[in-house]
This record gives sequence, structure tokens and C-alpha cells, in this order.
Amino acid sequence: MEGKKTILLAGGLGFIGSHTAVALMEAGYETVIADDLSNSEESVAERIGQITGTKPKLYVCDVADREALRRVFREQEIFGVIHFAGCKAVGESVAQPLRYYRNNLDTTLSLLEVMAEFGCGRFVFSSSATVYGVSEDVPFTEEQATGGCTNPYGWTKYMIEQILRDAAAADPKLSVVLLRYFNPVGAHESGIIGEQPSGVPNNLMPYITQVAQGIRPVLHVFGDDYPTHDGTGVRDYIHVMDLARGHVAAMEHLNGASGSCEAFNLGTGKGYSVLDLVHTFQRVNGVEVPYEIAERRPGDLAVCYANAEKAQEILGWKAEKDIEDMCRDAWQFTQLRASSSSSS
Ligand code: UFG
Repeated sequence: MEGKKTILLAGGLGFIGSHTAVALMEAGYETVIADDLSNSEESVAERIGQITGTKPKLYVCDVADREALRRVFREQEIFGVIHFAGCKAVGESVAQPLRYYRNNLDTTLSLLEVMAEFGCGRFVFSSSATVYGVSEDVPFTEEQATGGCTNPYGWTKYMIEQILRDAAAADPKLSVVLLRYFNPVGAHESGIIGEQPSGVPNNLMPYITQVAQGIRPVLHVFGDDYPTHDGTGVRDYIHVMDLARGHVAAMEHLNGASGSCEAFNLGTGKGYSVLDLVHTFQRVNGVEVPYEIAERRPGDLAVCYANAEKAQEILGWKAEKDIEDMCRDAWQFTQLRASSSSSS
């Protein structure tokens, strides 16, 4: 029997990486994680092991460090790489652009260089719907023009997509999938892994869970005068386990592709407003989320959701979980973390 294929997850202890590790292992892959712990906890590797029965091998290293990556490739037979390692806070990227360009581009270049040295040619990149910039042409399709990003974080995603297109065009042994995520939320159904932002959350769902927990007094709803059904911003929230399965489908698609670089939207194709999410969260979890209307946040779009047909047609993937699952699983994770940290 053929041995299991091993996937390297760069930045694999983070929110999306950790859930993808679980999905890959459930699909029969082995996983190896390289992560510098800059925005993650080492205990996540154990928790992945708790869910799957096997703790992934962890290399604590900077993914931009080629010598450290060479060690990983020497010690493991890597079938493909999924690149999650990157800074991702929009506001921070405006304040620290050089750090964002340096880190996000360097990790990508180092991975590609070391993969070429070791003859590994399957690469999946964590991109974002942010590459569509300020387009109002919703739903977004993959053919739509990219660019016009509103912050350095978004530009790093845009630039890395270009680097990957150029690299795949020059090297027939390299095949790339760009996964453009919409708004990942929720947590693994077990509540063992989930989203753990450090400091004040930038994103809506972790802010809601912290208000529900009483860590923060009130949610600020950024604007209620957008041209949407209730005036608040509309987004395509996608359950992180659906998103994780999208990476498995992408890796399977790459098994056989050569010299290609293709983009896929990973979203549900449905839009929900800020208040839709708040009200659903309150209803399914039976908790209060006090909120008040605040000014619009600079750079926010009124409406952003995916046309997700290409992923369904070509990858055979579609999102299956709904907004209630997302709210329930996010809250279960938050409560389990709170009780395990108070008992430890
Ligand atoms: N929002 C609030 N209050 C908050 C936080 C967010 O009202 O405290 C609103 C925003 O205005 C927006 C919606 O909730 O209407 C979602 O905001 P998020 O910050 O959760 O997500 P964004 O859509 O702004 O950003 C996400 C990813 C980025 C990515 C972007 C575009 O977090 O990485 O989508 O794809 F760049």
C-alpha cells in the first residue's frame, strides 16, 4: 500500500491552519507544521492531536528562514505545502507596512526557493477576498480584476498572488492554487480548537464572543447607513471547517496539475449583515450581545460576498455549514477555552 502523503503547513498553528491540519488528517494525509508562535500557541499541536489521534510534527521556526526550512524538507518527505504564515491585521499593516511586506513576502519566497531545491511542486496559498479591492461588483468572481487594495496587508496578498503566477509560469514542476477566503468564522465541532486572537479582536465574530463573555462591554457596529437591508455591512461568513475542507480539495486538485496557477473563491455565496450575525448569535446561544452603532470603519466595503461556483465545478467543494453552525461553534469553543483556562 502507498504510504500517507505529508503536507507541510507553514503557519499551521493559527486559526485556519489548525483546522486545515484536522481536515487533512481526517482525509488520510500526514501533517507537519512550521510555525514561529508569533501569533499562536504551541498547545494547539496537542489539541489537533486530541481531535485526530495523532499530534502533527511541529517545527518551531521562522518560515522565512531557509536553513530552518531545509531541515524540515531533509527530515520529511513533503508532498505539498500550504502557506498560512503571514501577518493579517489590517489596521496594524497600515501602521507597520514594512513589517508586513517583509514578513509576508519573505516567507513566500523562502518556501518557493526551498521547495524548488527539494523538487516539491504543490503549493496552496492562503489568499483573501481583499485582493478584489474596493470593487462593488458583487458577487466577486475569480475572473474579476484584482488590485486597488486599501491597506498593505491586502497588497501583500495581491503581490504574493503575482509572485506565484510568475513562479508557476517559469517552472513547469510548480502548480499553485490561490484560495481567496471570504470571512472565516466558527470553530471545530469539538470546541477544542478555534479562533484565539491576542489583544483586542479586529474581526467581528471574536469581538462578539468577547462581548458575550463580558470581557468587553459592548460591540461597536461600524456604520448603519450602508445601502444594505438593515444599513450594516454585509459579508460572506464561512465556517472554518468548510474552509479547511477547501484546502484538502485544492491539494487533491494539484495532484496531477502542472505549471498552473489558479484562483478559487472560498465562500458560501451568501451575504449576512453585522446585525444578522449578532441576532443569530444571540438566538442560537441564548446570550446577550449589547451593541451600539458607531462610525463607519475606514476602508470597509458595504457588501462583499463570493460567487463560489468555480470551486464547486472544478474542486468539487462547496460550503455546507450555515450561519447558525458558525455562531454555535464559535461560542462553544469560547466557553470551553474559558473553562479550561480557569481550571488550569
Ligand atoms: N465590524 C463591526 N464591529 C467590529 C468589527 C467588525 O461592525 O467590531 C463589521 C465591519 O464593519 C464589517 C463586518 O463587521 O462590516 C466584518 O468585519 P471583519 O473585520 O470581521 O471582516 P472584514 O470583512 O473587514 O475583513 C475580512 C478579513 C480580512 C480581509 C477582508 C476582505 O478579516 O483579512 O475580510 O476580504 F482582508
